[in-house]
Amino acid sequence: MYIKEIELQDFRNYQSLSAEFDPRVNIFHGKNAQGKTNLLESIYITSMGKSFRTSKDKDLIRFGADFFRVKVKAYKEDDNFIELAVNKQGKKGIKINGIKAKKISQLFENIYIVIFSPEDLRIVKDEPEKRRKFIDRELCQIRPSYYNSLNQYKKVLIQRNAYLKEPHVDPDVLDIWDSQLAEYGSKVILQRDVFIKKLEAISRSIHQGITDHKESLDVSYEPSIEPCSDLNSVFYEELRKHRKRDIKNRTTGKGPHKDDLKLQIGGIDIRGFGSQGQQRTAALSLKLSEIQLIREETGESPILLLDDVLSELDQQRQNDLISSLEDTQIFITATEISPELQRVLKHIRYFQIKNGAITKTSFAGV
Ligand SMILES: Nc1ncnc2c1ncn2[C@@H]1O[C@H](COP(=O)(O)OP(=O)(O)OP(=O)(O)O)[C@@H](O)[C@H]1O
Ligand SMILES: [Mg+2]
Repeated sequence: MYIKEIELQDFRNYQSLSAEFDPRVNIFHGKNAQGKTNLLESIYITSMGKSFRTSKDKDLIRFGADFFRVKVKAYKEDDNFIELAVNKQGKKGIKINGIKAKKISQLFENIYIVIFSPEDLRIVKDEPEKRRKFIDRELCQIRPSYYNSLNQYKKVLIQRNAYLKEPHVDPDVLDIWDSQLAEYGSKVILQRDVFIKKLEAISRSIHQGITDHKESLDVSYEPSIEPCSDLNSVFYEELRKHRKRDIKNRTTGKGPHKDDLKLQIGGIDIRGFGSQGQQRTAALSLKLSEIQLIREETGESPILLLDDVLSELDQQRQNDLISSLEDTQIFITATEISPELQRVLKHIRYFQIKNGAITKTSFAGV
């Protein structure tokens, strides 16, 4: 799977852009604030239907313009044309091979994508929400049904929490939200459980490889409610049990919105007690595992976006990352690329990004 061409209209600081990409490595280089990350963002949105930097689609419209449009030609078995546009009113339109898509989740199977940014390097030590996002992003891509369950769960949770904030809470009304929350929430938990078990096996072997068998990484699910065969009713009972507390706290205390991913090395919880190096290496292992998992689940190699992350990794970790991705299309943004990495990276296409314009260059030092 790879992206052949892109066209942008009034996206961020690009008035118009069209570019053809290499099936292997593409490097966007240039000074700060020129539009390198913006270009990655435009690629990302054609895969996930939203940005990785903002939830406000309208922010992506070029200042002063009325709408933006991104079009890509992506290869998967055949050429596919994906088009996404958002207008000032925030209305989003998606077309796949010229046909209007009704749901965002229809995008997911056309382009699988993995993004790695400096923020992801902090995933181990950051708050649980970041790790839940990691799980959700990945699961949505490989299981569109998960995306639906998660969205339904989030909607019901918002409604239940809003109701809990009302001056008088009627248990019968709350009960309606409880049964729905249990229904969608149990689906979310069960899918996360299966996914994390697969991630556990893959990340253990990848981490051993990266650390030369010196460290063993244990990834496990830390669910708010333990998965079991009759989870729907167990979940519902948990909500009933904690009802008084929820009414007092005016918010829902139990459910997958409280889940976490536990990360241990040699029995030590590295979220709180790992060294910075251990935390960064584990983050790299998780990213590489994400790529591997998508490959195993879909038979396709996802596209990798590396936003400013190479300069954050030492040479060895840079080589580990790049050399394990022989058949993957990679987009890299950087202000500089080390000569050693240029030797490791074969078939590179360089693009200079300057003030919302792109120029193909023959090497990175221009
Ligand atoms: N909606 C928008 N319309 C026009 N310009 C925008 C819009 N949103 C962001 N920009 C501009 O885009 C530029 C930032 O682009 P981007 O984040 O891609 O920079 P970059 O090349 O990745 O820089 P760095 O190397 O610092 O990460 C800023 O100058 C910002 O003002
Ligand atoms: Mg940037």
